[in-house]
Amino acid sequence: MLLCTAQLAAAGPAENQALIDAARARWEGSPQAGWMVRILPPSVDAATLPEAGSSGAALLARYCVQCHHLPNPAMHHPDKWPKIVDRMVVRMRGHGNRGAQMKQMMGGLAAPDEEELHMLIGYLRRNAQKPIDVARYPDLDTRGRSFRDACAQCHVLPEPASRTAGEWQRVVRRMERNMAWMNRVSGSQPLPGEPQLEVPDILAYLAAHAAPATRAR
Ligand code: HEC
Ligand code: HEC
Repeated sequence: MLLCTAQLAAAGPAENQALIDAARARWEGSPQAGWMVRILPPSVDAATLPEAGSSGAALLARYCVQCHHLPNPAMHHPDKWPKIVDRMVVRMRGHGNRGAQMKQMMGGLAAPDEEELHMLIGYLRRNAQKPIDVARYPDLDTRGRSFRDACAQCHVLPEPASRTAGEWQRVVRRMERNMAWMNRVSGSQPLPGEPQLEVPDILAYLAAHAAPATRAR
């Protein structure tokens, strides 16, 4: 147990990336690859993960890439992660929704032990999304409606003051790609009633409430 933790702590981004690449080659070669590739969009890699040399990052690269792209810890707020990880661990143990099917398809799945689970959840919570403090945004249901409706579909509504206006431009551009990636197979039409991304509205709202541009990141 101690030995195992020491080995994990020593793993760096290069070793982690090798694990990620090997896992992806396995699931990309499976008959289910068509939907597995869309569970999460590609975003971070081993080098751009927060605390890239930590045991938390090593655990993510070992366990959380077996069925989809590497999850970004910043996607969800701290309170959301334990429930998600629980759902994933049930699958890694071969149970739950599609668990048995995935385990068979992957030729076996590695699952974290209790100590690793604790470290993994701690790591995700430390590097999580900052949720909006709604009390500070009395205009959320008026001027902020496009933002409110579009940006809470996949994760908690993020805190506008957590980023500068320039950073929001880059994030929102990425979210447009994430929506296209996750929501529908290529070529399909938007569903009637599906919230559309009103990008100019959303950016104007975020810019009005963003952190000052001079703030050091
Ligand atoms: C055995 C396969 C498997 C493994 C291993 C796995 N996942 Fe998943 N994951 C899935 C499936 C299937 C879905 C889509 C259904 C769902 O959301 O439960 C998913 C969806 C997700 C999502 C998107 C859904 C959401 O609620 O945002 C996140 C984030 C996620 N996984 C994180 C993780 C993390 C973190 C780990 C490692 C602790 C992990 N996964 C390991 C199968 C897996
Ligand atoms: C289709 C699902 C989806 C929608 C809709 C969505 N996001 Fe995201 N969001 C993600 C995923 C997946 C990640 C993690 C991967 C990434 O960062 O690209 C993420 C991560 C983030 C992060 C953390 C990124 C970082 O690098 O720190 C922020 C902030 C964010 N989203 C803001 C927004 C905003 C603002 C909107 C509305 C314009 C939005 N999201 C809409 C899926 C979505």
